[in-house]
Amino acid sequence: MPHHTFTLNGKQVSVDTEDNVRLLWVLRDLLGVTGPKYGCGLNVCKACTSHINGKAFNPCSVPVSDIKAGDEITTIEGLADDSGQLHPMQEAWLEHDVAQCGYCQPGQIMAAVAKVKAAKAEGRELTDADFDDIRNICRCGTYFRIREAIKSAEAKM
Ligand code: FES
Ligand code: FES
Repeated sequence: MPHHTFTLNGKQVSVDTEDNVRLLWVLRDLLGVTGPKYGCGLNVCKACTSHINGKAFNPCSVPVSDIKAGDEITTIEGLADDSGQLHPMQEAWLEHDVAQCGYCQPGQIMAAVAKVKAAKAEGRELTDADFDDIRNICRCGTYFRIREAIKSAEAKM
């Protein structure tokens, strides 16, 4: 069985599994990291959104063999700092009481963090186009509160 090593939420992990197993199932079923949710498995719903090397991606559509030893994967479990202090985006989510059923919310937060970071790296604030570019589906329709939370977190990141 092939051996795969990468960094997950700041710690090196290793798993033995076939090359074509997609990363979402490695995270959830083999490593017990269940923040990234399974919705479609097709890179459409974005419920599984996590970060690879700081950028948003969808592990349901990436075979584990595509992940290199130096890659850093971050899931919602790795967003708080080492002392347990929540990320400003998580704080904003609580302040704005964003979640309804909650299923899409880890992916929404991870997408939002990556989007704000990318805009800041370009030295600018989020635009309406950036918000429209966040394609994560919410069955409960929390989109308005999501936008309000992102706007308030942006100022603190
Ligand atoms: S489960 Fe990954 S995009 Fe839907
Ligand atoms: S809060 Fe229910 S799917 Fe988004």
